[in-house]
Parts: sequence; structure tokens; C-alpha cells
Amino acid sequence: MRMRNKYRKPTTFPCNAGSRCSTSTVIWSLVAFLLMAHLFSLVSHREGAGGQIQLHTSHHPLFRELVEVEEENIQIPPPKGKRSPRATKRRPKRTTTLIDEFLDENSQLRHVFFPDMKTAINPMKDNGNDSFYYYPGRIWLDTEGAPIQAHGGGMLYDESSRTYYWYGEYKDGPTYHVHKKGAARLSSNARVCMGNSAQFAFCENSAVYVAWIKTTEVYIGHDAENVMISIKLQEHEPVDIIGVGCYSSKDLWTWKNEGIVLPAEETNETHDLHKSNVLERPKVVYNENTGKYVMWMHIDDCNYTKASVGVAISDYPTGPFDYLYSKRPHGFESRDMTIFKDTDGVAYLVYSSEDNSELHIGPLTSDYLDVTNVYRRILVGQHREAPALFKHEGTYYMITSGCTGWAPNEALAHAAESIMGPWETMGNPCIGGNKVFRLTTFFAQSTYVIPLSGLPGSYIFMADRWNPADLRESRYIWLPLIVGGPADRPLEYNFGFPLWSRVSIYWHKKWRLPPRWSV
Ligand SMILES: *[C@@H]1O[C@H](CO)[C@@H](O)[C@H](O)[C@H]1NC(C)=O
Ligand SMILES: *[C@@H]1O[C@H](CO)[C@@H](O)[C@H](O)[C@H]1NC(C)=O
Ligand SMILES: *[C@@H]1O[C@H](CO)[C@@H](O)[C@H](O)[C@H]1NC(C)=O
Repeated sequence: MRMRNKYRKPTTFPCNAGSRCSTSTVIWSLVAFLLMAHLFSLVSHREGAGGQIQLHTSHHPLFRELVEVEEENIQIPPPKGKRSPRATKRRPKRTTTLIDEFLDENSQLRHVFFPDMKTAINPMKDNGNDSFYYYPGRIWLDTEGAPIQAHGGGMLYDESSRTYYWYGEYKDGPTYHVHKKGAARLSSNARVCMGNSAQFAFCENSAVYVAWIKTTEVYIGHDAENVMISIKLQEHEPVDIIGVGCYSSKDLWTWKNEGIVLPAEETNETHDLHKSNVLERPKVVYNENTGKYVMWMHIDDCNYTKASVGVAISDYPTGPFDYLYSKRPHGFESRDMTIFKDTDGVAYLVYSSEDNSELHIGPLTSDYLDVTNVYRRILVGQHREAPALFKHEGTYYMITSGCTGWAPNEALAHAAESIMGPWETMGNPCIGGNKVFRLTTFFAQSTYVIPLSGLPGSYIFMADRWNPADLRESRYIWLPLIVGGPADRPLEYNFGFPLWSRVSIYWHKKWRLPPRWSV
């Protein structure tokens, strides 16, 4: 598959055909050109036969394996017998795509996306050459031999004990298929994005695209009277809150289950953590001022109308955490969210808001227990969710996903000089696999980016490959994320030249951190 040229040269300054270019514009264009030429000479690159790009940056030799471009060639099996007859009726002309296969629970390719227990990564057995290898998508066992349950996760690195703590949604329970009749009204050319629920539908101008995720039905139609579109969610697939799982590791590969550090509430139905509600994307930060570990999470009711953040606190990274409260930050809806702790100790909440059409970002109070009244709207109108932030050489970067419920979509990288913005969108960071892999974030959704000490510019991209039919069967996609080289898309020119390095996430069937890397 042909890859887009990642290093398209930026276009010259706008100079309308009708108007004469001033001398200063010409001079500035020249200066800009020289600067760009210099930039490009710093990073030598070549185009491979298939138009592929190999990075030859001044990276540490340890990086070499991480940035290899690996292809995937998955053959779609010919349609056999009766596939879902309903699906055939509704999509008569379309041929099957890899995304259809991914979403089809009965696909013959199921094992490609969700390999079974036979291939599970088991750090406790003698793995020989396979030690420390990540196999994105495979079942990953903890030190007791049970599949790790930490979805929508985040990482906390505890300096004093040199230990990583991985927090995430513990989903080891059945996925229910509950009938819901929630309705939403949107303007006729709106893109439909509601929470992280199972619906997947969008419309542009008068064309309506609808996708079905297994048994979830989404109906779209024009309302004759006020030209609105209404969506009826007939089925929705929640899983009971079980709680937030915590795992600890010193090598980022061998994970010990530290238990459920924030459990669901079994009996009190009015409690935020009652098992019938929704708890997603827990993130834990350590507060130096108070010596407490503070957890933030997305709290919702089962139909995603509460749209709030919840806060919990503990004296230890391994809990137990005491649940404090939930609220709508700055008075706004908050669905997918993350917490980012900056190098100056200020922590920020980033959340999808206004029907997921934009993100908001704002600093927390110095004890991290609340937001302040300062916030900014960022990526307005871009409909992004699943934010994962990191900082490299003073620049802030963020990976987000689109809003298509449990179905995978294209990731985008964004960058900013100031964390409060403005944030600019750089393009899809995914490299390798094949075109569909790159357009679906390798069939996964961002959740966190782990900085690797001692390997400047290298990170681990953590993502979730959701399995909406059985959420506990969702998999982890961990891949190397490298910052380096010029940005892949000419940025808007409101700030002069592109300031930021390209963010690249490399697909690998298997990979490991450099052998000499240690925490
Ligand atoms: C390890 O790799 C070597 C050389 O690649 C191979 O000969 C050997 O069989 C491998 N061992 C295991 C346990 O996979
Ligand atoms: C969503 O669920 C809550 C209870 O969990 C209920 O009070 C509310 O009416 C529901 N909203 C819709 C639109 O169904
Ligand atoms: C149930 O939870 C609500 C909300 O957290 C709380 O106000 C109430 O006291 C709890 N009820 C019991 C019986 O614990």
C-alpha cells in the first residue's frame, strides 16, 4: 500500500494571483525557504520503492528497531454461505472491508484481531528469545496467569520505588445487551458523536452514513417539522462497573495485579459508582504538596447523560482509593478525559465537551482535587476524544481519536507551545501496517503515552482495541511512539513556520524496548 508522503514541503506564503506580492513577502518567503531547506537537511530521508519513508534521524542506535516500518498483508476471506443476512440487506453494494471483518464477531479473521489464549503473553513462563516482547492485540497475562484487566488505562511512575502502576477499567464481567430508547437531536449537518457508547453514525450535509456495531441499531431520519435528525439507540452494550484495576511493574512487561483499588458500589443505587453506571479512563497522579495519590475518571450513567468527572484519593498508589465526588468541570459536559501532570507540578484536566465537538483544558487546584475556574476550548469543532498528552523538549503533544463509539478510527497528533493552546493538528501519526491499519489507529483507540526515561524522544503509545461484543475481551495495543523529523502536514501559517516535530507511531507485530533500556 502506498503511504502518503509524510514530508510534503510546506506551501509558500499565500500570494493571490490577483494581487501583487510585496518585496517583504518575497524576502520573507526566501528566509522561510532557507530555513526550511536547513530543516530538511537536518533530517535526511529517502523514499522507498513503494513511496515509503524511512526515518534516518540522529536517533540513538537503540531506536533503530523501534522505527522499522512493518507491513501487514491481511487477506479478506471471500464471503461464504450466509454472513449476517441483515447486514447484507443493508449494505447491498459494498464489498466487505477489513473494518467490517473487525466489527463482525463471526468473522473468519477474528483471531487476527483478537488472538486466543494459546498465544497469550505470559511473562512468568520461560520465554527464551521472546522475553520482553510486546505482541499488540494478544492476551497479556499478569504474574498470576490471569488476563490483565486495565482498559482505558493510564500509567503512574513512582520515582522512589522505581515502579510503574497501570490503572484501568477492570471489566472482567459480562457485557449486557440492554435496550435503551434514548434519543438525541442534532442539526442536520452535524456529525453525530455521543460519548463513548456503542452508536456509530454520522451525517454530512444530506448524506447519512450509518454503521452497525453487532447488535446495536442506530436509526437516522429527518424530522419533517424542524429538519432535525433523531437517533434512537435501540441497544447499548454496557458492562457493570467492577472498579479500577491496578497493576505494578518494574520493567513495563511483567505486571503484578495489585487488586481493584476503587471498587464499584453494589447496593446504593444513587451512588456514582453503582455498578449500573459507567466509569471510564481512570488516571492517577501523585500530588507532591499533599503526598496523596489522586485519581480522576469519567463518570456517567448508563445512557451517557451525566457526562461528569469523578475524583478519588489515596495515601498509596495501590489504594484503596476513597471516592470523593463527581461534577461537570467548569459546568460543562465531560466525557473522554485525561489528566496530564506538567514538569512544574501543575496538573491539567483535558476532556471532550459540547457533545464531543471540542476539548476543554484547564489546570487543577494545587491539591489536584478540583478544577480551577480557568479553562480553554481547544480543537473546537474537530470532534476528538480519547486524549493522551505528553511533553517533549518543552512542546506539548496530544494524540486523539475521532468519535465513533467502539469502532476504531483515525488518530491525529496535535501540538502546542503552551498547554493551554492554541493547539494545532498535525496529522495521522500511524506508520506501517497497511492503509486500513493506519486509518483505524491499528484497530485501537488512544488512552495514554508513557515517557521512557533515558530514551529522549521515545514513548510507548498505549491504546485499547475494544471488543464491543465482550468488553472484557478488549486488547491492549502498545507501540513505540517517536518524536522527530519535520511535521507531516503544513501547519496553518498563523504562527510563521512549522515549529513541531513529527509524532510517529510504528506498527509492529512484535517488538520490545531496547535490551539495555531499564527503568
Ligand atoms: C532463539 O533464537 C535463536 C537464533 O535466532 C534460535 O536458534 C533459538 O532456537 C531461539 N530460542 C528460542 C527459545 O526461541
Ligand atoms: C439516563 O439515565 C438516567 C438514570 O441512569 C435517567 O434518569 C435519565 O432519564 C436517562 N436519560 C435518558 C435521556 O434516557
Ligand atoms: C448512597 O450514595 C449517596 C451518594 O453518594 C449518598 O449521599 C448516600 O448517603 C448513600 N446512601 C447510603 C445508604 O449509603
